[in-house]
Amino acid sequence: MDNLEQLAIAARQALAAAQDITALEELRVQYLGKKGNFTELLKGLGQLPPEQRPAAGAEINKVKELLQAEITARRETLEGAAVTARLAAETIDVTLPGRGQQLGGLHPINQTIERISSFFESIGFDTVEGPEIETDYYNFEALNIPAHHPARAMHDTFYVSNNQVLRTHTSPVQVRVMENREPPLKIICPGRVYRCDSDLTHSPMFHQVEGLLISEHATFAELRGVIQEFLQVFFERDSEVRFRPSYFPFTEPSAEVDIQCVICGGSGCRVCKQTGWLEVLGCGMVHPRVLELSKIDGERFRGFAFGFGVERLAMLRYGVNDLRLFFENDLRFLAQFH
Ligand code: PHE
Repeated sequence: MDNLEQLAIAARQALAAAQDITALEELRVQYLGKKGNFTELLKGLGQLPPEQRPAAGAEINKVKELLQAEITARRETLEGAAVTARLAAETIDVTLPGRGQQLGGLHPINQTIERISSFFESIGFDTVEGPEIETDYYNFEALNIPAHHPARAMHDTFYVSNNQVLRTHTSPVQVRVMENREPPLKIICPGRVYRCDSDLTHSPMFHQVEGLLISEHATFAELRGVIQEFLQVFFERDSEVRFRPSYFPFTEPSAEVDIQCVICGGSGCRVCKQTGWLEVLGCGMVHPRVLELSKIDGERFRGFAFGFGVERLAMLRYGVNDLRLFFENDLRFLAQFH
């Protein structure tokens, strides 16, 4: 009976010290298991005189059951604490603001190309694309710019090999179309072009949209009408437009087109260099030699063509003063165009 008392005290101390389920289970095995201390004690009953045995046995069992109940209670407490701790660790605060999701958007240059294309598509032009690495023939020769022609100096050309260049304009796409389709033709050719030039208003890669119309009745007056309408729609205003005689080897007559400065309205500013005018595109009637090289009957068909830089138009429309902003991909700049 002394042993029983000591055992009960030791078991209670161990119980108080058990901080987790594993420790508790070890304790249970040690005291109440098949080879545990209480089992040992019960086996020892045989050494008592027979008349004392029942009472002692009952006493041992009572303590044993009590201990079992305490272990069970303790186990429930520990399990409850474990669940509470886990819930606390996995808590989601549904009142916290969500993580910001930002929508992407089209680059301003792509937006500008889409605006330009959708205008020309609305008046019946097809959009056509072509290779950025061109042969000397398509980029120059077929456009009436033979080798050693002084007009080659107008294009600061990147050569890929002896007779391959990074196209300096998208006019070669028009040649490809003239060779492959039957007139009448109405196309525009947007795309990247390359010239060895870099400063505030020039970048070695930029975008152009060029247009070509070939029909039996094309006239300069029609060209003027298309250009004037386009500029009005693009800039969303009724600016004055003027055609200045100019020179391109592939058009004759040729013109450069100016619009009244969209920044100062024509009174003169830094952007228009005090002239009140901004040059925005080149154009002209397709040169007979260009039609002939592409095997188009120049007696029956005539055409006009025009071409302009997309970055330049985008800069004027959005009031961007540095071309490089389009290529730096600074989200603070780009996000303004969403
Ligand atoms: N191809 C010319 C250029 O890149 C632009 C142009 C196209 C001019 C068509 C006249 C007619 O500079």
